[in-house]
Amino acid sequence: MKIEFVAPSAAAGEGDALAVLAFEGALLSESASAADAAAGGAVSQAIRAGRFTGAKGQSLDFLAPRGEGSRLLVLGAGAEAAFDDLALEHAAATAYGALKTSGLKTLMIRFSGLSPKQAARAALGVRLAAYRFDRYRTKEKPEAKPSIETVKIAVENVAAARKADVESAALAEGVAFTRDLVSEPANILYPEEFARRVKALERLGLEVEILDEKAMTKLGMGALLGVGQGSVRESQLAVIQWKGAPNSKAAPIAFVGKGVTFDTGGISIKPADGMEDMKWDMGGAGAVAGLMHVLAGRKAKVNAVGVLGLVENMPDGNAQRPGDIVTTMSGQTVEVINTDAEGRLVLADALWYCNERFKPQFMIDLATLTGAAIIALGNDYAGLFSNDDALANALLEASKTEAEPLWRLPLPAAYEKQIDSLAADMKNVGGRPGGSITAALFLQRFVSGKPWAHLDIAPTAWKKPSTVPTIPDGATGYGVRLLNRLVAERYED
Ligand code: BES
Ligand code: MN
Ligand code: ZN
Repeated sequence: MKIEFVAPSAAAGEGDALAVLAFEGALLSESASAADAAAGGAVSQAIRAGRFTGAKGQSLDFLAPRGEGSRLLVLGAGAEAAFDDLALEHAAATAYGALKTSGLKTLMIRFSGLSPKQAARAALGVRLAAYRFDRYRTKEKPEAKPSIETVKIAVENVAAARKADVESAALAEGVAFTRDLVSEPANILYPEEFARRVKALERLGLEVEILDEKAMTKLGMGALLGVGQGSVRESQLAVIQWKGAPNSKAAPIAFVGKGVTFDTGGISIKPADGMEDMKWDMGGAGAVAGLMHVLAGRKAKVNAVGVLGLVENMPDGNAQRPGDIVTTMSGQTVEVINTDAEGRLVLADALWYCNERFKPQFMIDLATLTGAAIIALGNDYAGLFSNDDALANALLEASKTEAEPLWRLPLPAAYEKQIDSLAADMKNVGGRPGGSITAALFLQRFVSGKPWAHLDIAPTAWKKPSTVPTIPDGATGYGVRLLNRLVAERYED
């Protein structure tokens, strides 16, 4: 699917679909009024005959209208005063979604009065909505496949829109990269394959190092290695660097991802029902990889690092047992009470390594860490934990503009005792009460007081069914947009 920007005066051709907007109160936008006039008043006639109010989610669909094109879609866009950039993005995505399998090849989106930036935002909506993971579908019927090949977006200043669109395109590519990683099954995407795909990002100007088990053993990463020891797949640590700041030596900002390519639970094995979902237990690492893809793609003026802990958690004769005690890279020891609480073990070493090596300004980790986060927050909000109010507030702010909802949860010192161990410095589970919180408290012990935020994205990494037009069912790519916005607004020179 390709996107073109065209002048508002460009007519939709024979065989094309045209999408326009109407607001609450059946208020036709300028382009909808023009389409109504061209169709001999068919739109206003349809409004009088039915219950179309212009509310979000409503639409009027005309096949073979008189006037322009072969199909006219009038989309309800809600109240005009509330029609912000996000509503615009969603309207463009909805238009694409409504027509993608229509059999038509070209869709013209003509929303009145778009600025170049808004046109690029509409393009972002279309690109995100057009994402598909169809690599393994060999028998899909042609009529079920998307037919739209070109989306034309009407905008006054075409050249400026094209320029603004470079960033939108980079963002959409990064999100798609994350969605691909998350969607891949675990027989295809295991730690080494994940590492190879990240290594291939060097073509974008990123520097990528892959540490193998030997290198991690030398560093003393006993917690991460313990999780992977039951798998025939070798554990990996991927280190991605983007040096885009004027001073390439300036302290970077850092992102750390949980990359459990499959989580069976290990010896504390999970029930069979739904275990297939655990192929997306690498969603945190996937989001960090996607973010680095975006930063390089749009040549962000920032120094950033991404550290991905890549392991497979399997039961096996060599697997770690409940009760085992491991020594982390930090020197702190952990009694592994439950081998299914593996994400925090992986992150403990990845966070410590990241902080030691890079001395970053801050660290943000992303992880599908706890089922308890889903119980607490449902399916739309990721959990936010932070030892730094400024960083937490910046994340909450960014989350609003990108529609990647976040909710902050506390880190009460009083709950620390839940992870006390008789035999070691701590244990890896804190019981059911506040399960997401004790997991975050565990992580906090590996950041040495550095400004840090932890995003528990177990609720949001995967959606079925999705309720947002820019997110097809399946991998969401959650986190990429949020973090890209944070970087763009606060950390670029
Ligand atoms: N990967 C899971 C968390 C998860 C569950 C993510 C459901 C997405 C959907 C994590 O490794 C895990 O198993 N956590 C345990 C922790 C418990 C053993 C303390 C959990 O949430 O049950
Ligand atoms: Mn687990
Ligand atoms: Zn897990």
